Amino acid sequence: MSEVKDKLDTAVAFIREKTNFVPKIAMVLGSGLGDFAEKIEIELEIPYAAIPGFPVSTVSGHSGRFIFGNVNGVPVICMKGRVHYYEGYDITDVVLPIRVMGRLGAKFLILTNAAGGIQDGMEPGDLMMITDHISSFVPSPLKGENLEYGERFPDMSHVYDEELQRIITKSADETLYENAALALENDDNGSNIFSPLKKGVYCQLPGPNYETPAEIRMIKQLGADAVGMSTAIEAIAAHHLKMRVCGISCITNKAAGLQDKPLSHEEVKATSLKTEKHFTTLMMRIIEKISAL
Ligand code: HPA
Repeated sequence: MSEVKDKLDTAVAFIREKTNFVPKIAMVLGSGLGDFAEKIEIELEIPYAAIPGFPVSTVSGHSGRFIFGNVNGVPVICMKGRVHYYEGYDITDVVLPIRVMGRLGAKFLILTNAAGGIQDGMEPGDLMMITDHISSFVPSPLKGENLEYGERFPDMSHVYDEELQRIITKSADETLYENAALALENDDNGSNIFSPLKKGVYCQLPGPNYETPAEIRMIKQLGADAVGMSTAIEAIAAHHLKMRVCGISCITNKAAGLQDKPLSHEEVKATSLKTEKHFTTLMMRIIEKISAL
């Protein structure tokens, strides 16, 4: 048996001993969605560290666990925190939690992350719906023996589901005014709450170092609108399992060379904290609409 399949089966069996919960929607709560966990009527939490064979995140602000629960009556499974390729795990281990959520029954996957903005006009605090990605700078998470649930050579023309993209666009339009009111009430002008949803191509680079300005110029030429160190490989693994995938980046900073101060993890965390409220409002609306599918 392949090691990947073995780990997957072991993790799913371990979780199934604890719960029969069948999620409809799986979510990865990246930086900027810490608040969202409070919206979940939690049934069960399982730390990644408790699951045999699971990779465990070492990054501050990424404490890792699965949360099983309901959001306005919709059964969801959330990854609070994720592991990154730069932590040293094999790429197949990095996507193991995604595959587990698929095997537990989730048909939809909402990915979120923090990203550097490249597209002209993008500002820290903006949200960007991912329309496509560039993953060519990291290995494929599908390497090795093919898992029987998906094809050996899966098509990647439509990784980000078009119906889900329409739902995100509509939800963002609807929440814009709600968010603006919220911002005024809280005297909050630090997050770009009035800024309409951006759309674009996310490029995953290996990290953990941020990019050089030359690298940002390169990926901009290649068509990237935002850059980060996660997500594309998770989208590939989920699409391979025929989950319907969508993704939203919280633009925490302008990418290297596009702002005059050095990049820092502190800046990334600070901006994502500021967007938590309106990101959460948007996500609630998206879930409500997906639940009707
Ligand atoms: N580059 C890579 N990853 C990131 C960035 C960035 O500028 N911002 C947040 N995550």
